[in-house]
Amino acid sequence: MLENRFSIVVGDITQSRAEAIVNAANTTLLGGSGVDGAIHAAAGPELLAECRTLGGCGTGQAKLTKGYRLPARYVLHTPGPIWRGGGHGEAALLASCYRSCLTLAAEHGIRSVDFSSISTGVYGYPVSLAAPVALGSIRDFLETHPLPERVRMVCHREEIAAVYRQAWERLAREHPADGAYC
Ligand code: APR
Repeated sequence: MLENRFSIVVGDITQSRAEAIVNAANTTLLGGSGVDGAIHAAAGPELLAECRTLGGCGTGQAKLTKGYRLPARYVLHTPGPIWRGGGHGEAALLASCYRSCLTLAAEHGIRSVDFSSISTGVYGYPVSLAAPVALGSIRDFLETHPLPERVRMVCHREEIAAVYRQAWERLAREHPADGAYC
């Protein structure tokens, strides 16, 4: 059942004990502010050292590193799209961020993944528009793949979690679960 595999919580993703956490990165993968800055600060300098070896990452793609001093074993880094009004392929790129992270996690046998809310901070993607795209992408993947076994959206504030919860309920109403792993 999808309800057993996905949940929306409020918290600080740097405290997450999931096997992998998802960083809302930029294409250089060399750190920044927001959740990127928080993850690098918590993981310590070895994370940046590993990121320097990766040669950056395209928007909508994902790369995997160790978690170092984080409780999480791995970090999945994905640069989201910068919001430019919605007419520049932002939704497809955002969906690709979630799909790329889940694909990489499954390829590495990772069983639990905690996402941050990609692109909805500095990159300006309205949460009300990002949430259905993110959740649709997560749900499509989970319906057709056994791994990861558990996925969470970790929102930094309750008001953001409320938007995601509303979007998840709407998705369930409008698109009843379908697929081998529901
Ligand atoms: N735990 C969970 N979520 C967090 C945390 C945290 N510790 N800190 C921030 N967030 C949330 C924000 O509230 C927002 O909802 O992460 C979401 C993503 O916001 P940003 O971190 O600003 O990421 P994004 O909008 O994707 O912009 C990426 O910002 O930090 C730089 O290097 C990064 O250039 C890149 C850009």
